[in-house]
Amino acid sequence: MNAEHVQLQEGQARFVVPQDLFFNPRARLARDFGVLALRAEADLQERRLHVIDLMAGIGTRGIRYALEAPVERIVLNDGNPAAVEAIRRNLELNAIPSDVQVETVCEQVHRLCYAIRLRDERFDWVDLDAFGSPSVYWHAASLVPRWDGVLYFTATDMAALCGKLRDPAVRHYGAVTRPWECSDEIGARVLLGALQQSAGERGLYYEPLFVLDEGYAMRIAVRLRYGSSGFPVQHIGWLAKCMSCFSQTTLPVHVTVGRCRVCDSEDVQWAGPLWTGPLYDPEFLHLMSVEARKAGHQAVLRLLRLMTDEADSPAGYYSVPELGKRARLSHLPPVDALVQQLRREGYIASRTHFETAGFKTNAPYPVIHRAAERQQ
Ligand SMILES: C[S@@+](CC[C@H](N)C(=O)[O-])C[C@H]1O[C@@H](n2cnc3c(N)ncnc32)[C@H](O)[C@@H]1O
Ligand SMILES: [Zn+2]
Repeated sequence: MNAEHVQLQEGQARFVVPQDLFFNPRARLARDFGVLALRAEADLQERRLHVIDLMAGIGTRGIRYALEAPVERIVLNDGNPAAVEAIRRNLELNAIPSDVQVETVCEQVHRLCYAIRLRDERFDWVDLDAFGSPSVYWHAASLVPRWDGVLYFTATDMAALCGKLRDPAVRHYGAVTRPWECSDEIGARVLLGALQQSAGERGLYYEPLFVLDEGYAMRIAVRLRYGSSGFPVQHIGWLAKCMSCFSQTTLPVHVTVGRCRVCDSEDVQWAGPLWTGPLYDPEFLHLMSVEARKAGHQAVLRLLRLMTDEADSPAGYYSVPELGKRARLSHLPPVDALVQQLRREGYIASRTHFETAGFKTNAPYPVIHRAAERQQ
């Protein structure tokens, strides 16, 4: 049978993938997160939601939203006419409840977002699943959520975000990224810092609900807020790393020079400007966990537990293998044991969903070093 006639299923959605059109099975986790987050948002708002998928591809994500979450209206857009044709055919394969209003649109993201604003329409949930950097769409996409609505966006330009390609990071985000052990968290924070700046120009700002690092892509959900006075300047700053004692710290954006607070070395490098504030909204994570438990989704539950655990930890993280190399440890301590040891010593410490062998802490690096030696 021709591949484009093979019917696939993900969640409750059935679909076919026509030749030459994009469908990424690896993005399932991001779609699962989207479905559960949408259910959490509907629980929070105590009503069914109005949703728009600005880059719907062949429609899998939007169809799943319509089937698996309390949606009242959903708009599925793609700029490629062949994709919209595929969306229409895929919609026909699914029994979308008759009380869900479904619309398909074939329009460029910018034109659609400005048209929506001119019509004075707003959506509770805006999905922006771009290839590469999403920064070019932020200005337009921020016109579409209602005040307090949610934007759920993707970035796949990981080389730029994680410090392998410096120039595109400056071009897209006006920021310096670094290939440090916590490079992917720096990437997430650079995205959030640049998004805030783009929103701040127009008297808006965003509050993060969660960040999901999938390695090859970053998925971030943020809630739109209105008003310049609430703009979180205190959470825009730098992540600094001492190249002498390896301690990581954050600094406010106005501070651009300084010595290491731990060992007084002048050999300090900076990443940013970036978002130094919280990456997770614990109440939202809790609502998502309730939904994930109902769905029996163990992989998502495990990630949500890690996210909840790291929600109160400082920005940046360390990796146990790096620690092992620097401290010449004969064997690597288990991450959990190290976290417990640091907690016993009175420091904040947690694992992190960014890295299996990573841990977050406010302990200075020499303290971490000693804690690891105690585990030998
Ligand atoms: C990553 S895919 C979307 C995948 C889909 N959200 C999913 O989860 O299966 C990105 C889609 O954006 C569309 N696209 C790219 N640039 C666009 C633009 N400027 N306006 C509208 N659609 C665009 C492409 O045609 C492609 O189908
Ligand atoms: Zn130092």
